[in-house]
Amino acid sequence: MQADIVSSTMLIFCVCALLVSVCQSLPIVGWIQSPGYPHGYGSDISETWKRCAPPGHVLSLRLLHLDLEESYECENDVLKISEDHNLLANLCGRMTLEELQSSVNPSLRSSSGGCLSLTFQSDYSNTERHAGFKAFYTTQDVDECWENDVVCSHFCHNYIGGYSCSCKPGYYLDEDQHECRANCTEERYGAGVLKPPGSPGPYFENADCLFSLSVDEGNQLELKFTGVFDVESRDGRCVDFLKIKTDTETFGPFCGKNRPADILTAAQHVKVIFHSDLEGTNQGFSLEYKPKGMECSGKVTPDSTVSPVRDRYQVGETVTVRCVTGYVLIDSTETFTSTCQLNGRWSPIYSCEPVNCGHPELPDLMDLTEDNPQTLYEHTISVKCSSEYYKLDGNANFTCDATGEWVAENRQTFSQHTPQCVPVCGITTESARKRIFGGENATLGQIPWQLLVKEPHRGGASLINDRWAITAAHVVENQRSLIFAGGMVNARAKEKVEMQTEKIIIHPGYKKPNFDNDIALVKMSSRVPLSENLIPVCLPEKKTNGPTMEGKMGTVSGFGATDKRIKSPFLQYGHVKEYPGFCFQSNLKVTDNMFCAGDADGGVDSCKGDSGGPLVIPLLGFGSLNTPYRLKGIVSWGPPVCGNRDYKGYYTKVENYLDWIREMMEKN
Ligand code: ARG
Repeated sequence: MQADIVSSTMLIFCVCALLVSVCQSLPIVGWIQSPGYPHGYGSDISETWKRCAPPGHVLSLRLLHLDLEESYECENDVLKISEDHNLLANLCGRMTLEELQSSVNPSLRSSSGGCLSLTFQSDYSNTERHAGFKAFYTTQDVDECWENDVVCSHFCHNYIGGYSCSCKPGYYLDEDQHECRANCTEERYGAGVLKPPGSPGPYFENADCLFSLSVDEGNQLELKFTGVFDVESRDGRCVDFLKIKTDTETFGPFCGKNRPADILTAAQHVKVIFHSDLEGTNQGFSLEYKPKGMECSGKVTPDSTVSPVRDRYQVGETVTVRCVTGYVLIDSTETFTSTCQLNGRWSPIYSCEPVNCGHPELPDLMDLTEDNPQTLYEHTISVKCSSEYYKLDGNANFTCDATGEWVAENRQTFSQHTPQCVPVCGITTESARKRIFGGENATLGQIPWQLLVKEPHRGGASLINDRWAITAAHVVENQRSLIFAGGMVNARAKEKVEMQTEKIIIHPGYKKPNFDNDIALVKMSSRVPLSENLIPVCLPEKKTNGPTMEGKMGTVSGFGATDKRIKSPFLQYGHVKEYPGFCFQSNLKVTDNMFCAGDADGGVDSCKGDSGGPLVIPLLGFGSLNTPYRLKGIVSWGPPVCGNRDYKGYYTKVENYLDWIREMMEKN
């Protein structure tokens, strides 16, 4: 009897010790009841209990008796049971054990390692006595192996408070403690045969193998697939794969049923990587590896050729390396010599770089069409003029050639045939809608090449490019420097462009008495800012055989005398035709350097102050891009009474001076 007590005490102690060790001092079973149970609870009670399950366990609560005051939504007395903030039950009234067991108790379970809280509240108004509640709680182990979210790739073992995974032979458990991986990382030396883990037979799933193969220095690994090749693939894509890597190259991935070709790796060390996924019953491969004397490939450096040409070279052999067209060595030598080394590499190796033509030096007013174009061999660039008043004279598109020059399609180089931006001539942005003598007011932009000199004598001139103007010799004779104005139709306009002369070149043949060779060139000190109101006029194309004005009407313009005033404040123009025969009888000798023009009725004429100004064809308003306005005559001399019915005005024949004009502009 004594011994029994001792042994049962021992047993209780042992069980308690076991429970304590498993539950780490937390009570794992127990009772909870309302204060005063079963004799009735008092008023205004509020009490909370919280019980938690140890890790790997769940806590379950079983209500055995419930007798609380009944109220709508249990607003008077209530027992609330919740897990964290999730209310599991809100109870009041009377329930039998059967009712509790069937409808309430099954839901009173915590999650693994979770807690349940019970809150009991009563109010003051109890008229009748109620016993309260009584509940029993226990903890139970969770069998994680049966829960869906636990995945051991091979085997799962449940134990009280947790679980563990294990693997089939030939596999090891990954660091994540769940995945089983095939044991297949190996280093090998010399010759042999490599097969995936599991062979013979289907290879293991979930394998990540890394075979490191090596041979002696001066040798390379030669690889040969033999027998069956069967690595899982789906729709031509590798599910499982085999890859072979050297320091410089990767062969594969290989998969499917076709045996890959033999590989001469040109490497002393090779890594063979094999990967399989979680399923499949494929047979794998058999890879023979053995050493072979090291060789070098025919590739020394990209963008080069070697001589002599061979597929492979023995260690110690030398080749001459030359860059392909468009590529150069950094030190700009033509070739270099390289030797095949023990490691299968060439040495020395220099790189062939593409020729760089650089950014061409662009003349004034020229831009590249692209902001930052590439300038290497075979890249292209194109140029354009930055202003609409200029047009490109020369090639627009260039390609960087092997010599480092930008060349056009016609083989002209940018450096030797640099395109130029030349002013557009003889166009107006305003189409014409006549006082010069008997003329009409011009509008702004209608005669944009017209220039005016006021001091010391009033005269006209015509802009012929963005640096030069042409006028009559008698207008500028004895003058060292003058100021011309343009871009306006009102002689007193504030908005105008003033041009200071840099050079005045009077034709050497100019003779005063009869105004022979009455022509002069004026160079401005800076580039004239062209605009819609300031555009040069074109020169005649070449000397005409017939009448100077080609039988056409032309327009003469200027700020000279009108039928009402000595000086016109506004630019005037008038239409005239050429008179090849009789013009004006005077004792001055008429030469072939002049022609006369005017109006049949004598109503329209140039006059004093118009000298030096333009006579253009076609008639104002009839010019176009294809028929630009051309300077045919320069107002020169005439009868002292302007607008004479019988006497016309004389104009310098510009076409006689084309060579002189070009020569002067080139030299000055
Ligand atoms: N020599 C005059 C001048 O200096 C031009 C005279 C033109 N006379 C004529 N009737 N067309 O402005």
